[in-house]
Amino acid sequence: MTEIYLSATAKIPASTTNLGPGFDVLGIGLSLYSRVILEEKASGTKIICLGEDSEKIPATPDNIAYQAVMKIFDHFNYQPPGLQLTIDNGIPAIRGLGGSGTAILGGLLTANSICHQRFGIESLSCSEILSFATEFEGHPDNVAASLLGGVVVSAMEHSNKDNLPSVMSIKLLPPSDLRLIVAIPDFTLTTQKARSVLPDSVNFSDAVFNIGRSSLLVAALVTDNLDLLATAMQDQLHQPYRAKLIPGFNEVFEAAMSAGALSVSLSGAGPTMIAYARSSSNTKKISERMTYAFKNNGLNCQTQILSVDINGTKVDSPSRKSIL
Ligand code: HSE
Repeated sequence: MTEIYLSATAKIPASTTNLGPGFDVLGIGLSLYSRVILEEKASGTKIICLGEDSEKIPATPDNIAYQAVMKIFDHFNYQPPGLQLTIDNGIPAIRGLGGSGTAILGGLLTANSICHQRFGIESLSCSEILSFATEFEGHPDNVAASLLGGVVVSAMEHSNKDNLPSVMSIKLLPPSDLRLIVAIPDFTLTTQKARSVLPDSVNFSDAVFNIGRSSLLVAALVTDNLDLLATAMQDQLHQPYRAKLIPGFNEVFEAAMSAGALSVSLSGAGPTMIAYARSSSNTKKISERMTYAFKNNGLNCQTQILSVDINGTKVDSPSRKSIL
């Protein structure tokens, strides 16, 4: 009897989130990618981690991409005889660039593709994938931006009929010459730690401040009013607390602004800082000044000049291997 073993590959963009005031709401897909490859096998389970920071990613059942795969197989009540999961990571881990979100999406989408190929069943919709991914992450901003690409605005309701969060997301396209200069310092900061320093409640005036900035920011991005970003990316809800966890936060911010950045924010929960500029500006100078400012505070950092990924996650099912 011929057994057909299926495979699927997902290419998932990194994300930056919050963008200053849009805490847990706003995200942007970035031109920096990881790939997740899921292959059915005759027996056994093998998890392989390759690429950037691969030593920080567990190759065990604790692996979040593996857990996402199993979630989808459970959902469709399917257990392959064996599987191999490869995470080819291109995103510095635990630095605020949405790496865990890319792993979750990679696992969910490759398993979804295999179930679809095997049973001809309807694939889970984009909004169902987003619900599963948000349940893993706890907040929708990174996974929505990585799934859809572009600038993504999300709101979450806590449960729908399956007890999964229900997420409404809209993708917008920013000006095509927007560049994002990421300065990634050489230390990790877990989201859990960066959330633990936030207060339980905030002042009414701080909430109003952020609603205004966040709304202005979305409008500025879609109407190509990038000169408003300096004001529109101000934040009172999380960066003032998290800045204390990042040596040189204020200096890096000032260094990028004085080198011509339109604005600067913490990327997600940090520690990466991200400056925004048009492609016509001196992005190299901005990245060099940010590096120098981190160095002045005892931190090495790597920088990358990225653009916005506008396509989101792509899934491919390249091969059907027949094994006798
Ligand atoms: N919105 C999240 C936070 C992103 O700031 O905690 C980090 O994963």
